[in-house]
Amino acid sequence: MAKIKTIGVLTSGGDAPGMNAALRAVTRAAIYNGMRVKAIYRGYKGLVLDEIEEFQTQNVSNIIHHGGTIIKTARCKEFTTPEGRQLAYDTLRKHKIDALVVLGGDGTFTGAKCFAEEFDVPIVGVPCTIDNDLCGTDYTIGYDTALNTVIDAVDKIRDTASSHERLFFVEVMGRDAGFLALNAALASGAEAAVIPEVSIKDDLLSEVIQSGFRKTKNSSIVLVAESEVTGGAQTVANRVKSEHPEYDVRVVVLGHIQRGGSPSAADRILASRLGAAAITALVEDQRNVMVGVQNDEIVYVPFAKAIKDDKPLDMELVRTLRALSI
Ligand code: F6P
Repeated sequence: MAKIKTIGVLTSGGDAPGMNAALRAVTRAAIYNGMRVKAIYRGYKGLVLDEIEEFQTQNVSNIIHHGGTIIKTARCKEFTTPEGRQLAYDTLRKHKIDALVVLGGDGTFTGAKCFAEEFDVPIVGVPCTIDNDLCGTDYTIGYDTALNTVIDAVDKIRDTASSHERLFFVEVMGRDAGFLALNAALASGAEAAVIPEVSIKDDLLSEVIQSGFRKTKNSSIVLVAESEVTGGAQTVANRVKSEHPEYDVRVVVLGHIQRGGSPSAADRILASRLGAAAITALVEDQRNVMVGVQNDEIVYVPFAKAIKDDKPLDMELVRTLRALSI
């Protein structure tokens, strides 16, 4: 394949703490390898609308510790149409961009896969999402920071829950995945996690709560993963309230606070490694793959596999949470 002279880089979909660190790594590794870097603003939207700026190493100075993304992000409707993707390709040609590095999650890689099937452009993905729901990588950038944000919030909720002897249902993000809710429940000592991967029948939930609440404890915290399957924290709380009107129940939806903040050390390191690995992948003629990490080793995962939506959840964690919540 012809040598890649210029790469385009974009951040797309929901932002994740560590995206800036990954952008820094991609930019610096590309320049280190003799490539030019064009930053594309607002994800695929910037490709469709031609919002592009050449980046030098100093454009990514002092951003490793910042949440969000300095080149902005968006979910782009136009890019889901063939006409939109043609415009995007025209922009690539206009700017002489030979390859793309896309930072994002499931939607970003679905778009990349589609684009790569229509046009002859090598694309490498860097997994950035707090949901940790991409297959083929043990961790995604942003997940560790979000986990710590949830734990910090739950620690605070515990103070008031215990003072008032209340039962709290705390809704955690994750799109359709329970990784964040389950691991945050373990790390914060929550009584239970209601997650889409494990069906928890009404009576079982009551049992879990009753086994601790008012028996050995005077307050409880249950983390609920947002999802159509769980119905969210309010739905679960309503169910429990109708069965146990004696409980003093409260609901907290953590929301977008989980997406912000300075990335943790783990996320900064992962972002630096995967950002640099994306450029190595292009140098090695890889195309249409996500760079990921498995057992601490860098791996290349085809987009089709990464977006498969069947990342296994470790059932041992579910059992441990149950055992420790008595
Ligand atoms: O994929 C990341 C995520 O934060 C999900 O956890 C959540 O369901 C979704 O994005 C929220 O998206 P938006 O920012 O568009 O409301």
